[in-house]
Amino acid sequence: MNRRAALALALSLAAGSALAGCSSDSSGSASTSHSVSASVPGVPKLKVSGAFMPQPVSDLAAGFLVVTNSGGAADRLTSVTSDLSDSITIHRTENQRMTEVKSFAVPAGGTLDLRRGGSHIMFAKLTRRPEQGQKVSIELHFEKTGLLKVELPVKETTYNPAQQ
Ligand code: CU
Repeated sequence: MNRRAALALALSLAAGSALAGCSSDSSGSASTSHSVSASVPGVPKLKVSGAFMPQPVSDLAAGFLVVTNSGGAADRLTSVTSDLSDSITIHRTENQRMTEVKSFAVPAGGTLDLRRGGSHIMFAKLTRRPEQGQKVSIELHFEKTGLLKVELPVKETTYNPAQQ
């Protein structure tokens, strides 16, 4: 473990919450990138990529992923469910403080970015403690698209793809 990872881990342990996802810089949540693929007016077309969960060190965990909408209409992420927790909420991070939100927009031709330091999925009162190498199944619920099942590979506690 390098010094930076060790420090980050120590900090997350000290904080007791292990939610590195709830701290640090606030990168924006909804950047847009326009897609050239054909889109149907009025219909969102969603794809999930880059999903992961840092290995939790308490009974709290965070989930990160990117939802890309190549369709012709916006959608909204309204809730998340999983057998990992009965208490799952979606959070935005502003000024290093996280706030629960009711939903996240997924703009037509844009993305919803849930990444470290920014918006994220939060799991409380975990029913088990997933370990690195395992997978956690979750269901994302969208206003128009309905349910999308996603697997979150469990990564090391300090994992951050933006810093690879
Ligand atoms: Cu949070």
